[in-house]
Amino acid sequence: MTELIDHRPAAPPGLRGVEVTSTTVGDVRGHEGRYHYRQYDVIDLARTRSLEAVWHVLLVGHLPDPDEEAGFRRRLGDLRVDAAERLGDVLATPAAGPGPLDTLRTAMSQAGAVLGCRALYDLDPTERAEDLLRLVAATPVLVAGTWRTTRGEHPVAPDPTLGHAADLLRMIGDVAPGDEAVRAVEQYLVLTTDHGFNASTFTARVVASTGADAASCLVAALGALSGPLHGGAPARALELIDELAVLMPDDDAIDRAIRARLGRGERLMGFGHAVYRTDDPRSLLLRDIARTLGGPRIDAAERIEAGALAALADAHPERPLRTNVELYTAVVLERCGVPAGLFSPMFATARVAGWAAHVLEQAAQRTLFRPSARYEGPWPLVPLAHGAATDGEAATDTG
Ligand code: ACO
Repeated sequence: MTELIDHRPAAPPGLRGVEVTSTTVGDVRGHEGRYHYRQYDVIDLARTRSLEAVWHVLLVGHLPDPDEEAGFRRRLGDLRVDAAERLGDVLATPAAGPGPLDTLRTAMSQAGAVLGCRALYDLDPTERAEDLLRLVAATPVLVAGTWRTTRGEHPVAPDPTLGHAADLLRMIGDVAPGDEAVRAVEQYLVLTTDHGFNASTFTARVVASTGADAASCLVAALGALSGPLHGGAPARALELIDELAVLMPDDDAIDRAIRARLGRGERLMGFGHAVYRTDDPRSLLLRDIARTLGGPRIDAAERIEAGALAALADAHPERPLRTNVELYTAVVLERCGVPAGLFSPMFATARVAGWAAHVLEQAAQRTLFRPSARYEGPWPLVPLAHGAATDGEAATDTG
């Protein structure tokens, strides 16, 4: 009892590089600057396929033929309508959190109860998929509905004849969105549906490994996503753009302001990535989309990007730090009429489908995550006095 002996292997901080399970959902190849869903390059998918086709790949397992795609689109539309009808009370009086993603997290928890999600452990694979698809379809209804009612506006009922992206935009703004905005948002949602074993996906899988219900998996993942180092960054990236844009067109002033931030130890939102060691392919496509959409912020974003990349290269010559998905997400979503407060919930609207694919896979694997932590507190154990011992007595006993 005097010596603390621990022969368990130590994982690197943050589990970086450790393979904790296997997956067929997809992967990120950080040194190559590419990622894939099942066997398809995601940039190719985003350029050529609909959101529904991509989600069919992830949730059903294969690229759909036109009939399958149309059926899946109808199914999602019907489930949006069903969710709106059954979740009316949740939408009418949402428990508003400090941010819209927190509001969504609470609403998702309520949705799990109202829609009757049951422990994955007790369900067969078809029933699990059904519970998850209901929640995936409910997400834009919750995002748009709670956003509107917390502002004193009425929720907009879903239109099952529309695609998921178009209906999401319509339910947010209560106007028919333009084709260009719909396609841009659809591509954004394709790009952000899944991305390897990130913190929120891992979280969803940990909860799924316990056999908990589908909503619990997604609620936990939403909590992980809400942090500024993960999905909470895009609104802060827009702030960065707007704060530095006032210095335009003086690129030297922008450069100085960026270096001053780094000098204060600040992180530049929209830059750096845990896995990519070269360009983040999502940022490249989103920059193309942002250029096509035009608007006042794209020029500022590109000037800031140039200054930030130079400053980050000087500050960290040992490590490539490039633009991540969030910088041009902010530009694209803002241009498509999405309020900055909804940037992170938009991310969540896509990512729920990725989490769902992982939850299904994890539930089928039936392995409980149960790692260890190295105990680094005081040792040896303190013998307790029998009877009503106080902290003081215990300390005395230790001598
Ligand atoms: N701005 C300034 N410095 C940075 C940035 C940044 N954006 N990113 C990394 N660094 C620095 C770190 O301060 C650290 O320096 P140090 O060694 O002197 O302490 C070094 O680069 C390595 O940083 P790590 O934290 O080890 O890198 P990690 O891979 O863990 O971080 C992360 C990845 C969290 C995304 C980080 O780059 C970051 O904080 N970026 C800003 C927030 C952001 O944009 N988040 C969205 C990520 S994309 C997504 O989740 C969808």
